[in-house]
Amino acid sequence: MATSREQFGSRLGFILAAAGSAVGIGNLVGFPVNAAKNGGAAFLLLYAVFVGLICLPVMMAELGAGRSSRKNPLGAYQHFSQGRSLWSIGGWLALITPYMIAVFYAVITLWVLGYLVAIVSGDLSALTNPDYFGDFIDSPLVFVYLAIIAGLVGTILHFGVKEGIERGAKIMMPALFVMLLGLVAFVLTRDNAMLGVKYYLIPDISKINAQVINGAMAQAFFSLSLGMGIMITYGSYMDRQNSIPGSAKMVALADTGVAFTAGLLVLPAIFSFNPDTNPADLSDSSVSLIFTFLPKIFLAMQASVGYWGASLVAAVFFLLVFFAALTSLVSIIEVPVSGVMDQKGSTRNQALAGVGLTMVLVALACTVSFGIVDFLTHFISYGGGGRSFFDLVYDVFYDTILPLNGFMICLLVTYRWKKAGLNEELEHGAPDFKGSLLERYSNFALSTFIPLILLFVFINTVLNKFFEMSLI
Ligand code: TRP
Repeated sequence: MATSREQFGSRLGFILAAAGSAVGIGNLVGFPVNAAKNGGAAFLLLYAVFVGLICLPVMMAELGAGRSSRKNPLGAYQHFSQGRSLWSIGGWLALITPYMIAVFYAVITLWVLGYLVAIVSGDLSALTNPDYFGDFIDSPLVFVYLAIIAGLVGTILHFGVKEGIERGAKIMMPALFVMLLGLVAFVLTRDNAMLGVKYYLIPDISKINAQVINGAMAQAFFSLSLGMGIMITYGSYMDRQNSIPGSAKMVALADTGVAFTAGLLVLPAIFSFNPDTNPADLSDSSVSLIFTFLPKIFLAMQASVGYWGASLVAAVFFLLVFFAALTSLVSIIEVPVSGVMDQKGSTRNQALAGVGLTMVLVALACTVSFGIVDFLTHFISYGGGGRSFFDLVYDVFYDTILPLNGFMICLLVTYRWKKAGLNEELEHGAPDFKGSLLERYSNFALSTFIPLILLFVFINTVLNKFFEMSLI
């Protein structure tokens, strides 16, 4: 029979692993640029309100559902719904979503690794060539980097929750914090840095409109690893003596803190070295910012610190992004791995092999959909243009479906499991939570307006992305 379920070794270990999951490429680049474009401190405030009032209750619900059922997302849905088939749809979605996100996130992570290697080998100036990115993602090198990423993630997951995931997070997360603070200190001491801080932080309420609110909400939700089955899975590895509300607050704080701090790095860097930049011209996409815009910013630093100084700063930045991406990748691949282990009764290594091999195949399909294979490059057409297989996976699973998954988890915990069950689980290890304002608020919000808001965001995104329409 099954041995007892694996567990995180300590509360700090859990918090670092969950924060490692949440902190990713979006925090380091997407968030700062979005904030600067959409109202500065006004956007930050909006984001913080969404994190506290909407994301935190959902995170507690996911962690609670995982810890109480001691199951992967599909198992958790089956557990609380007693196998009713309609609910299993939610469970399947919560398993397929992370699987598909993992696939394309692996592709982005391999590009980051490729850029890191290029910078370390002295090629920073080549990266600023407008053709570099397009050539790189179509070169055979991508297969080598994909193999390296698969090997790294596979090794971490092979060692399991405590010796693999937790140990990896305990090394990479503190390193990430130190690198981030070091880079912030460096950039803030450059000329014109305050210009960037000003763009970043001066509130501009006039920029806040319905689209910006929708965007801030969606960003907060996805940044915290919600709707991806991750928090259910990590919850299932949590010790019952640990406080879920307390840990969830720490994870939300760490994620938001890193996003905020990254802004003190990225925007001053942009304005210090290109003071004429107009924030409105910056790309919306983290991918184009990282791979085509930032290398130019780093290269421009050579005027003050020389080519190798600039390369060093760029290398540290890409290493930081790489660590952030790797910890997210580990967390998201653990979801289907735990799914196969629970549902099929396989060992960790069997599950890992099955999930890993199929995932590499789908990742290969994504990798070659930038020109190498024509069929996958011109895969489908929607929203007013042709899309590649990679675009489709990205649009459906990263940009659209998470709020729907969040909607279903809210309904599951409040209407199937019932609030009393959730409360009892959350009070375990957190006696102060009983009767607290947060408990009463979460009970009310999770059963009423949070699912409605998530459903609204979902429908609006579908209309936007696929039908060029909008509710707002
Ligand atoms: N915060 C992540 C980012 O900024 C998004 C994310 C959260 C993520 N959890 C993840 C991405 C797990 C991949 C896997 O990119």
